[in-house]
Amino acid sequence: MSRNIFRYSTVIASLLATALFAGCGSSNKEGSASSLANVAKVDEASCRVCHSTSVEPVTGDNILQDYLGSIHNLNTFHKVGCQDCHGGGAQHNGVGPIPYTNPDASGKCFECHQKYLPKAHFAVYTAATHPAQYVSSLYQNSCTSCHDPHKADKGITPQHGEWAESAHGDVNGAAWMDEDFKENTGCIRCHTATGYKNYITSGWKLATTTFATAGDKTYQVLTCDACHSNYNFKNSVRAAKQYVAPYNSGKSPATFPDVGNSNICISCHSGRESGATVLAVTDTAISNTSFKNPHYLAAAATMYAKGGFTAFVDDPANTLSGTVGKDTSGVTREFKYTESLTTTEDGGQLGSTHRKFGTSAIIGDHGITSGDTNMTTSGPCIVCHLNKGGANGAAHTLKIDIYAGDQVCKKCHAAEITTDGTTATNTDATKLATFLEEQHAILGEAIGLASKILKDTYKITFNPDAYPYFYDDQLGLDASGKPQAVKDWTRSKVLSTALSAKDAKRLMGACFNIQLLTKDEASYAHARTYSRRLAYDTIDFLDNNAMDRSVSVTATTLQPTIFVKGTSADTATGTTDAMLFLLGYDRKAKTWNSPERP
Ligand code: HEC
Ligand code: HEC
Ligand code: HEC
Ligand code: HEC
Ligand code: HEC
Ligand code: HEC
Ligand code: HEC
Ligand code: HEC
Ligand code: HEC
Repeated sequence: MSRNIFRYSTVIASLLATALFAGCGSSNKEGSASSLANVAKVDEASCRVCHSTSVEPVTGDNILQDYLGSIHNLNTFHKVGCQDCHGGGAQHNGVGPIPYTNPDASGKCFECHQKYLPKAHFAVYTAATHPAQYVSSLYQNSCTSCHDPHKADKGITPQHGEWAESAHGDVNGAAWMDEDFKENTGCIRCHTATGYKNYITSGWKLATTTFATAGDKTYQVLTCDACHSNYNFKNSVRAAKQYVAPYNSGKSPATFPDVGNSNICISCHSGRESGATVLAVTDTAISNTSFKNPHYLAAAATMYAKGGFTAFVDDPANTLSGTVGKDTSGVTREFKYTESLTTTEDGGQLGSTHRKFGTSAIIGDHGITSGDTNMTTSGPCIVCHLNKGGANGAAHTLKIDIYAGDQVCKKCHAAEITTDGTTATNTDATKLATFLEEQHAILGEAIGLASKILKDTYKITFNPDAYPYFYDDQLGLDASGKPQAVKDWTRSKVLSTALSAKDAKRLMGACFNIQLLTKDEASYAHARTYSRRLAYDTIDFLDNNAMDRSVSVTATTLQPTIFVKGTSADTATGTTDAMLFLLGYDRKAKTWNSPERP
């Protein structure tokens, strides 16, 4: 930071030289449209006398004390007085008007700082594609969305720097600058701060209008005021209602549990479509329709088992809801995917320790007590990603770094992530990273197996980097040399017998799951059992279009070096981690489940 200030100060010093003559925010300001702008200044000391006990309306702090400690007052080359912001006090004296009661809303901050703000804050872009910025058009008179006006630099909290480094504050993040998202009512709730504020304050009402204005090409990042209602950050997290995701254009809504502040995260990280959208494709359309994309980083959709396609078997009512079904030998079996905060794995319900984080359901699990409020409040997303046990309060990097490791993970994973079994220190950082990377790679093996069957049997190439991700090998390249997307999900030109409409939807559903687990690349941690079960069923369907629990045979036949099943569920007997991910087993007894589905 200190280097930053030095550089900035040099710039401001030269600004000052100009400012004194041209009058940037100084008392010599001329030519302003407002007559109030010309009100003469009085001695600053007079303001201080009368306002010595005035209280900041938002933070409740003493204005004068805040101001005296701010860099506006303390810097040695251009002191910014009360009147440089509020305007001259000659008519005021406590009873008359002061020119700018809220200088920020009147554009005073932007006016003075505009030309000297670092690029991430503000830049005038002319090119067609360009980064997003902190001070986009609607924020030019709203620095207080992210700054405390009287504290100035003392109001830059540790969270400011962390946010600036995070994906939410990344002006080069594709999700903020890939296109002008404020022009599209379907996107603004997740891709712009203003759209999100409207969404959360309306209790999740979908936008019917945009806020795009002609000529405005600025793009927003996820500003502090998206999640905080004002600059008293500690006490201003916006109240978020329980979230209902409007999947399938609202026709297949999914209600998420009410998990306090983590409701904020769920609303953007639940994806745009669920398996229900695939099911809703009509039988006639399935031979000529585009892939239904779950969208990206849908961590909540996997954690709460709302996202995946699960209708691989007929249920008795033949609604394809995929909860109970008959296997190939005619035996009715459970195919449950129901999540629950309180039950543990029982063959049907999907238990999950991680899902219980930040709720009272975690009390008693792995020795977590009600006194451990960092583990029992604010919901799961915040417990792991904005963990708050440290010296600076809630971390805003979003990272699962060694700090998260020490505050949260080591309570249960000390063996995996610490050297001494108790504290996760910086030297343990690689242990945590390796632990996560290994699990990520194992998930990748399952996705790799599914993709291999797609390619070999269905002549479909999965390219995770190019929308719409699933390409038809049979069609080859189009006239302009580009691969062509799959549209015929019955694979009538590829298979000797085309898939029935029902199975064609299941094929798209399998692709949907592959994409969901690829784009929530931490689904191995967000939803351990759910992601294993989705992967299992996807492969079980793909290998012969029948749910006959054939995955271990398929895996060992197709990729014998990656998938090895030893006599017990233990790497000591030659079993590979990739196989352990795919099949059900007893963690303690290390015995394989029968039947083998996880
Ligand atoms: C850097 C610009 C800046 C400086 C310097 C500044 N203020 Fe302010 N002040 C603001 C802004 C912005 C607001 C409006 C805050 C809001 O409503 O959120 C404000 C609000 C106020 C209010 C209104 C509080 C209320 O009840 O609505 C008072 C009183 C005030 N300032 C006094 C002072 C005094 C006295 C000083 C000097 C000791 C001072 N300010 C210095 C920017 C400044
Ligand atoms: C003689 C005492 C006195 C002096 C001197 C004085 N003020 Fe005030 N000021 C007041 C009182 C009283 C109010 C009204 C408080 C209220 O509305 O609660 C006020 C209100 C304000 C407000 C809020 C205006 C609004 O409409 O919300 C600002 C900003 C402000 N003063 C800034 C200043 C600045 C800057 C100076 C120095 C130039 C200054 N004051 C000098 C007594 C004084
Ligand atoms: C009259 C011009 C002027 C106005 C008006 C003004 N500032 Fe400043 N601001 C400065 C100067 C000069 C500095 C000191 C720069 C430095 O130390 O590098 C500064 C410093 C800051 C800093 C700290 C920078 C750092 O390096 O730590 C912040 C944040 C800031 N201003 C925000 C605001 C906000 C928000 C407003 C409106 C509420 C505002 N400023 C109004 C001139 C102004
Ligand atoms: C979207 C949030 C956001 C908005 C809006 C915003 N800022 Fe900032 N500002 C930050 C963050 C975050 C930092 C700290 C950056 C860091 O540590 O890397 C910062 C730092 C600063 C600094 C210190 C300079 C530096 O080197 O980074 C100044 C000065 C400043 N802001 C002024 C302003 C002014 C003036 C406005 C309004 C015109 C404004 N900011 C609007 C987030 C914001
Ligand atoms: C439910 C919230 C949500 C909605 C609604 C939404 N998105 Fe997204 N979108 C996201 C998230 C979260 C990401 C983060 C992806 C990343 O960085 O990997 C994203 C990423 C993207 C990306 C970048 C993909 C990449 O490769 O990194 C594009 C392009 C995009 N969305 C387009 C859209 C469009 C167009 C709309 C409206 C028609 C839309 N999104 C609606 C949540 C949403
Ligand atoms: C307004 C929508 C929105 C909200 C609310 C939101 N996010 Fe995000 N989040 C995004 C988008 C979009 C991205 C990807 C940004 C990019 O392209 O860089 C993202 C990225 C992330 C990442 C990925 C970081 C990385 O390094 O790749 C994490 C973790 C995350 N968010 C967690 C959270 C948590 C926890 C919350 C709740 C406190 C939350 N998000 C709230 C939209 C949102
Ligand atoms: C048990 C701790 C834990 C919980 C609870 C948790 N996450 Fe994560 N999350 C992780 C880990 C571990 C990663 C991977 C980090 C890495 O690879 O550096 C991750 C990555 C992410 C990412 C980026 C990559 C991806 O897979 O999408 C997003 C976005 C994200 N989480 C959002 C959320 C949201 C939203 C919630 C709440 C519904 C949540 N997380 C709950 C541990 C957790
Ligand atoms: C994605 C939503 C989101 C964004 C964006 C966000 N915050 Fe937060 N912030 C939160 C949540 C949620 C909490 C409370 C965490 C909890 O429940 O423990 C919080 C807490 C805080 C706290 C209190 C820390 C403590 O524990 O004492 C500060 C300070 C803070 N935020 C500052 C900021 C600043 C400054 C910005 C912008 C630079 C910002 N936040 C952006 C969600 C967000
Ligand atoms: C309260 C105890 C607890 C805490 C705290 C906890 N976990 Fe877990 N974690 C578990 C349990 C239990 C499982 C096994 C879940 C399953 O098989 O469904 C697990 C599984 C995992 C897995 C999958 C690998 C495996 O061995 O099954 C990863 C990766 C993981 N956790 C990462 C994390 C990270 C990262 C954190 C900290 C951000 C964390 N966990 C915090 C209890 C915890």
